[in-house]
Amino acid sequence: MNMGATKSQPKLGVCYYPEHWPEAQWPQDAAQMRALGLSWVRIGEFAWSRIEPKPNEFHWEWLDKAVSLLGDTGLSIIMGTPSATPPRWMVDKYPDMLALDKEGLPRGFGSRRHYCFSHAGYQEEAQRITQNMAERYGDNPSVQAWQTDNEYGCHDTVLSYSAHARNAFQKWLLARYKSIEALNTAWGNVFWSMEYDGFAQVELPNLTVTEANPAHVMDFRRFSSDQVVAFNQAQCGIIRQYSDAPIIHNYMGRITDFDHFAMGSDLDIASWDSYPLGFLEDRSDQGETFKHDYRRQGDPDFQAFHHDLYRAVGGMRSKNSRWWIMEQQPGPVNWAPYNPAPLPGMVRLWTWEAAAHGAEVISYFRWRQAPFGQEQMHSGLQRPDGVWSAGGREAMAAAKELSLLPDVITTPARIAIVFDYASAWAWDTQPQGQDFDYFRLVYDLYRGLRRLGFTIDILPASTDNFGDRAAVFIPGLWAWTDELRRALDSFSGQVMIGPRSGSKTQNFAIPTALPPKIHGFSCKVSGVESLRPGGAVALERGGHFQIWREFIESDETAVEKTSDGHKAIVSNGSVTYLAGWPDDVAMSRILTAFMRKAGLKPNPMTGGYRRRDFSGFTLHMNYGRETVVIPDAGRSIQLRTGDIAVINNTTQDWLVRPRRN
Ligand code: GAL
Repeated sequence: MNMGATKSQPKLGVCYYPEHWPEAQWPQDAAQMRALGLSWVRIGEFAWSRIEPKPNEFHWEWLDKAVSLLGDTGLSIIMGTPSATPPRWMVDKYPDMLALDKEGLPRGFGSRRHYCFSHAGYQEEAQRITQNMAERYGDNPSVQAWQTDNEYGCHDTVLSYSAHARNAFQKWLLARYKSIEALNTAWGNVFWSMEYDGFAQVELPNLTVTEANPAHVMDFRRFSSDQVVAFNQAQCGIIRQYSDAPIIHNYMGRITDFDHFAMGSDLDIASWDSYPLGFLEDRSDQGETFKHDYRRQGDPDFQAFHHDLYRAVGGMRSKNSRWWIMEQQPGPVNWAPYNPAPLPGMVRLWTWEAAAHGAEVISYFRWRQAPFGQEQMHSGLQRPDGVWSAGGREAMAAAKELSLLPDVITTPARIAIVFDYASAWAWDTQPQGQDFDYFRLVYDLYRGLRRLGFTIDILPASTDNFGDRAAVFIPGLWAWTDELRRALDSFSGQVMIGPRSGSKTQNFAIPTALPPKIHGFSCKVSGVESLRPGGAVALERGGHFQIWREFIESDETAVEKTSDGHKAIVSNGSVTYLAGWPDDVAMSRILTAFMRKAGLKPNPMTGGYRRRDFSGFTLHMNYGRETVVIPDAGRSIQLRTGDIAVINNTTQDWLVRPRRN
């Protein structure tokens, strides 16, 4: 994994569906895209039924025309493989290609992503269409990038309980364990007389009377992730035979169902689809007041977390980490419980924020709002009548401003958090308290650090060297990896570990020596409890442990205790163990002290104000409802809601001035 410097001037793009519009409209669309300041256009990813309306009957003419028109207008094309939308005839050919849900019911035709990753016939079909596309456009100079499929895992599609999945799972288990005795031992199948005589007896972990063995579930999660990675890898291999253009996939917000770092090793660039308002309504743990206050701006830290996460995923293959926004929300979406319109300024702010985190391209979803189909209520840069939407006008402003920026260089941050997909599966399998959610734990820590003004890197659990960072955090890691142990042994900065880190073996058992089991550190977790809402445990110096707390035995100094007298945080000087899940008040206090110990000075950001230092500039952003005034080198910056300012740190000149009051 490489967090080396990347260098590029951020460009803008858009997702376009020529098949949705009359051909006569394409030239004007392309011209307007250029006039808006866009450089990239993504096409193709849902167009299978128009490319191959009948088996082996290809209609490329329309796509050829669209490619040459867009290319001739000066746009670089991202060509999407259409495997997320197999046409209807495919389901006639392979009625058993559909995934089955946990209850064993088929997830049928009529929307998208109706396939099981383990169906060999569909795997071949997806490779065949990829091959046909790559052969046709692989050396087309306008096709400057590829996107594989679309949002793997969207609509809960990673896990399938089909017969094909079961057969493939049995093969996967055989390859992993070699003998059924080894599997029985690894899973602890003596428990409840669950021992097997052969791999053919192992079913998928659904439709059991009560919960399945967590080791069984965990292997099914690993297997399912591997199936997605292999599906993608096959497409990459084919595309690379015909094209030198980079290959990208568009990941999502708060989706952990497959290992994005593993997939990242096969891709040249990571990208993600950023819908700040949809995510706030649909996937935030914050309470109603927060959702109300930020309903038109989005959670001020959620985008940043994913920018940093996908910057790391984008460094798994490329020498220098490369990442994009493939889909940026331009206005109201259609899929969240409530779909408010962004406040004026927010589309521009989100665009700038991505650029400041190092996004090479920020591409809006979508060009024009479609008047038909499932997403007819989803806004675009243009309204259905072709007039610019508010988001379209902001994209235009952002394009002008971003063209003033020189190349953005992203360099490693002084602090990092380890993020691990397997840990998300483990705690999903065995939360031991319904509020324990791995993403939420890591994200709470990330927010805590960001509110103190820090720039943060995310690292995978395959990291074997933390470099010269000042501090590293390893929250909720389910099981140690050899690489992380090596990284810990050679690290001279401060590490904060816990809660729950190292509390399972790779076979999903409790290490009998008891966690966290760190070299040179006596601390042992002797017991744990989960905490119900209202049952938080007070900490001596303020704030609480919520959701989770641990009881520890340790020779190390107690940095602080709970008000009921148990050690809450212990440290030996360089390793600190956190025996619970701090609430916001405790998090801020604990992190402030810890960062001082690591030699870094917190610079707290209040309310919805956020700042990012990047590449010799500072981006100031106001996500909050109130105007903020920030003192800055002898002047004060006044930012209204949704406003930004960009300052050149060397000259102290404005690159972008705040709007006047
Ligand atoms: C994304 C998806 C797009 C579109 C968009 C709507 O999840 O990749 O195809 O559906 O959401 O917000």
